[in-house]
Amino acid sequence: MARKNFRSTAVAAVAATALFALGACSSGSSANTGDGAEGNGDDLITIGFAQVGAESGWRTANTKSIQDTLTTENGFDLKFSDAQQKQENQIQAIRSYIAQNVDVIAFSPVVESGWDAVLQDAKDAGIPVILTDRAVDSEDDSLYVSFIGSDFVEEGHRVGEWVSENLGTESINVVELQGTTGSAPAIDRKEGFEDAIAGNSNVTVIDSQTGNFTRAEGKTVMEGFLQAHDDIDVVFAHNDDMGLGAIEAIEAAGKKPGVDIKIVTIDGVKDGMTALADGKFNYIVECNPLLGPDLAEIAKKVVAGESVEKRIVTHDDAFDQEGAKAALPNRQY
Ligand code: AHR
Repeated sequence: MARKNFRSTAVAAVAATALFALGACSSGSSANTGDGAEGNGDDLITIGFAQVGAESGWRTANTKSIQDTLTTENGFDLKFSDAQQKQENQIQAIRSYIAQNVDVIAFSPVVESGWDAVLQDAKDAGIPVILTDRAVDSEDDSLYVSFIGSDFVEEGHRVGEWVSENLGTESINVVELQGTTGSAPAIDRKEGFEDAIAGNSNVTVIDSQTGNFTRAEGKTVMEGFLQAHDDIDVVFAHNDDMGLGAIEAIEAAGKKPGVDIKIVTIDGVKDGMTALADGKFNYIVECNPLLGPDLAEIAKKVVAGESVEKRIVTHDDAFDQEGAKAALPNRQY
């Protein structure tokens, strides 16, 4: 179902937000500066955002989108924290936002599980939680009001389909650089890719390890793959940064990335698109990091007591080498 005033596509039903909205309005909103709440006196919406970290170019673009959108001019008082890819830091940040009695909490969970207790605390405090980018694995979906982000299973599936159709016409060996262990994008992209190649007996994943979504760890893991296997045809990296690390390892081993060893990734940040246009990557499925505008709109609706979509799936494109050359001049991130 297309949502006219969003650049994204909403696919799921409406969330009941009245309870949260009531709680939000009577707690940390700017009109209420008592009770220890950090009222800002400007009728701004106070929003606490607990970011995963700064592990990738994608994350940098995502942080910029949030900070550029949730401004005082746009009606927000943003409190931002960087968890350095540690769940305990994110939980601590969320607890601090609860203690500050903010109007809304938003976060991108570093891993899928282990959130129920802190989300229950937010709910008990009447503070609505909006998930951005990554999902939580919880039985109780009343612990958050909305989840805005890509369909990671679909992303992995699209990469797998491309590999199967374009490279899997003969027997190929694939190595996989997984994202952060236990994170939604690592779990879902793996699942989608495996599902897409399942019917093609030419495509074999011969090794798979985490590179934690960083360029440095992607390089180190790829060095290990190259030492362990002399028959690698394709690298499937769960994000551009690990693919860029793989380029360094492949070149150091005297091989040509994109030719001797093909590289397919997910994200579509500028460095990744440049590698694709230069022939060092072979295919990228985009993961759109520009979630700030959707988050701002949902947060305003929630605080106003309006209904919001429980799941908002953002639109992702895909690029081959020619597509990257055409798209690069206008790439925002
Ligand atoms: O959750 C989105 C993923 O996290 C991006 O693909 C990756 O680059 C980031 O670290």
